[in-house]
Amino acid sequence: MITRRQSLTGMATLGAATLGLAGCSSLRPGGGAGGGSGSDGGGGGRSNTLVLGHAGSETDPRQKGSEQIKELIEERSDGRITVEIHANSTLGSWEQMIEGLQLGTTHIVIESILALEAYTDLAGVETAPFLYESDEQFFGVWDGELGAEIKASLTEETGFELLGNMFRGARNLTVNSEVATLDALQGLTIRTPSTQTMVDTWQMLGARAEAMPWDEVYSALEQGVIDGQENPLDTAAFNALYEVQTHCTLTQHMYANYHFLMWGDTLAGFSEEDQQIIREAADEVGRTYTERTVASLEEYRTTLEGEGMVFVELEDREQWVEKVSPIFEELPDQVTTWVEQIRAQA
Ligand code: MLT
Repeated sequence: MITRRQSLTGMATLGAATLGLAGCSSLRPGGGAGGGSGSDGGGGGRSNTLVLGHAGSETDPRQKGSEQIKELIEERSDGRITVEIHANSTLGSWEQMIEGLQLGTTHIVIESILALEAYTDLAGVETAPFLYESDEQFFGVWDGELGAEIKASLTEETGFELLGNMFRGARNLTVNSEVATLDALQGLTIRTPSTQTMVDTWQMLGARAEAMPWDEVYSALEQGVIDGQENPLDTAAFNALYEVQTHCTLTQHMYANYHFLMWGDTLAGFSEEDQQIIREAADEVGRTYTERTVASLEEYRTTLEGEGMVFVELEDREQWVEKVSPIFEELPDQVTTWVEQIRAQA
């Protein structure tokens, strides 16, 4: 049977060759192909450099998160570990950076669980639409045992560690027309990240879904190749989408955290003490990041309105939710169980 992630293989840049190669790589701090330049594995002596990449601009909250984790890790490891930050997809799209985690060309990538859908259908626990009714419901899941269980399962299934929980806010639609109803969405071309569930979601809603790497989105909007995109408000505010989009519909169709993604073998290559430093730093940044998002969501909206964007409430949300219900019939049993547990917390 073709799974959703297999059917999207051409869209995501993941290839079987990549996975095979990764399986053979030596991924150790100081181990050449693996985690960090230098040597020693973190026990003292020469430094290890962790290459951190993200797809946001240098004013995006991801950059602040990167700078904070760099400071914490370098200070607490007494300089045994250094962190090198690369913003703006300069190391490649996030799809490529995540492949780089396995290859050892990147060591930390800031991304959401959706970025793992090319590796496991369990990522459907994030990409399945309309799971949350409020921020409180989201925190109830991700600050609790269920969130920890989901992260542990994803790590076991894929080999990627998901460190820290950096709350991003709900995803909303931006477009160049007023979309208050499902009717107004029909036929618009909407960019999604390269995940099959999100492509399916927007097709079911009646849009033409176009999966595209994030670093191509601004120019595709500018040239009119696509009509809209969907992301949390900070992404629109800090990546100047207000220059190429006139409206934002508060669809709130998906909620997510960012995490510091690391290849498990890379992290395991550090001493116990240094692994703890990295994990604790990620958790601490997660708390700061989340507090900042909660405190700033209104401000992000004000910024976008100040730049001329018009905010639109969804008038027929029940119809949107109804249209995407077939997505839930396709989910693996484990994800269906999680979805029920998440909904029970509404
Ligand atoms: C995007 O590509 O739209 C996002 O930045 C990916 C994500 O939400 O993780």
